[in-house]
Amino acid sequence: MATSDLITVVGCGYVGLVTAVGLAEQGMRVRAFDVDPVRLAACRDHRFPMVEPGLEDAARSAGDRLTFHSVREEAWPHPAFTFIAVPTPQGEAGYPNLSMLRQVLMWIADGRSRAGSENVIVIRSTVPPGTARWAQVEIERLMGGEVPVVANPEFLQEGRALQDFREPSRILIGSENREAAERLRDLMAFTSAPVIITDTSTAELAKYGSNAYLAMRISFANEMARLAEREGADPLVMLEAVGLDPRIGSRYLKPGVGYGGSCLPKDVAALISMGSAANEPMELMRATQEVNVLQRRRIIRTLGDALEGLSGRRVAVLGLAFKPDTNDVRDSPGLQIARELLTAGADVVAWDAAVTADLLPAADAGLSVIGELIDALRAADAAILCTEWPEIVDLDFARAAKAMKGRLLVDGRYAWDPIRASNAGLDLVRIGTSRPVRRTAVSA
Ligand code: UGA
Repeated sequence: MATSDLITVVGCGYVGLVTAVGLAEQGMRVRAFDVDPVRLAACRDHRFPMVEPGLEDAARSAGDRLTFHSVREEAWPHPAFTFIAVPTPQGEAGYPNLSMLRQVLMWIADGRSRAGSENVIVIRSTVPPGTARWAQVEIERLMGGEVPVVANPEFLQEGRALQDFREPSRILIGSENREAAERLRDLMAFTSAPVIITDTSTAELAKYGSNAYLAMRISFANEMARLAEREGADPLVMLEAVGLDPRIGSRYLKPGVGYGGSCLPKDVAALISMGSAANEPMELMRATQEVNVLQRRRIIRTLGDALEGLSGRRVAVLGLAFKPDTNDVRDSPGLQIARELLTAGADVVAWDAAVTADLLPAADAGLSVIGELIDALRAADAAILCTEWPEIVDLDFARAAKAMKGRLLVDGRYAWDPIRASNAGLDLVRIGTSRPVRRTAVSA
């Protein structure tokens, strides 16, 4: 028999940990399982591998309602729900690699005496349409009985993931089994968010649709901003004016070095791949991806033009996290720019508010990450803003000018004030232009 308040969460990455902590905070007893013993040991001490506001405190206050396990037998003692939150990384031709999900199904089946039809399997990982239906057939074949599988994609944003768990914009439940869907809806009744109960493929595709749409808006903003620069228009004011139309809205319309992270790039690539397989070419997704790649190339070109070559130039890359309030460097624009500059022969130093050298992939061991922002600027020919950490946005330009050898600042996020920079004697350029910008005065 399943124990009604007992939940197993498989995978202690972003989604899994936030789900585990979030449910424990709501009074559930949660067993979080992962195969990585080092990660688990840190989690037991509430030292999570990611910077995520409120997560450690919430885990601490959940006390022994939340436990961490690497032994499978401990993790599946008759749970009412098994949440699967394992990675589905970009695989061949952009299609998600589902091998970890397949492995988890085998584990669940293997613990058949500990699972059963009361155990609703909830797929929280981002998976292509058809996956939950396939998983259901697979698990029922392995276990020889009825096991409901529900698709329950999440919409958590890194940096505010726990808040998004507590107050989601919507709860999406895809299920071919009404009773299982209603049980999950009841579990999530702590929020007043609208609930959509639908079939599994609709839920699975809606997750891709959300991330793809956000990515498309960012590429749109980037493309329009570049044209604005060429035309001598102010990109930020132009996009603000566009976004004030209530049919459009202003969020995800901020231009910059392009979108990064573990989700948007992967999900756009997955949709392109799914479209090809279904013989429905995803032209907008292709363009979205292309604009994003161009954006990073442009920043390197802008810098190279302004410095009259990159070889031997000392460049400070300011921001390695893919966005502020996280220490995640997966598909990070800042890290990619740093790599390309190194390849071009530049002498690169980096600073970030949360990313330290030990968090970088082994291949980036050569990148020098400096502890103090001002030290990263010392003797630099140029500095590029890649992540809008407040410390970088509010840079003391007079101090920066004194520390740097050169005058050049490249603003990859439209975050620096050109007037303040120019008052300190620095030359500020933005992504698509190699001439210094002066912000147009606009009345409020
Ligand atoms: C994204 C989605 O926003 C979440 O809803 C979703 O749950 C998550 O992916 C996921 O699939 O798990 P996240 O990866 O945390 O969340 O990142 P975002 O905050 O959406 O930012 C993505 C990228 O877009 C960042 O590199 C950010 O700097 C960039 N961005 C964002 C812009 O360049 N301009 C903007 O206006 C907004």
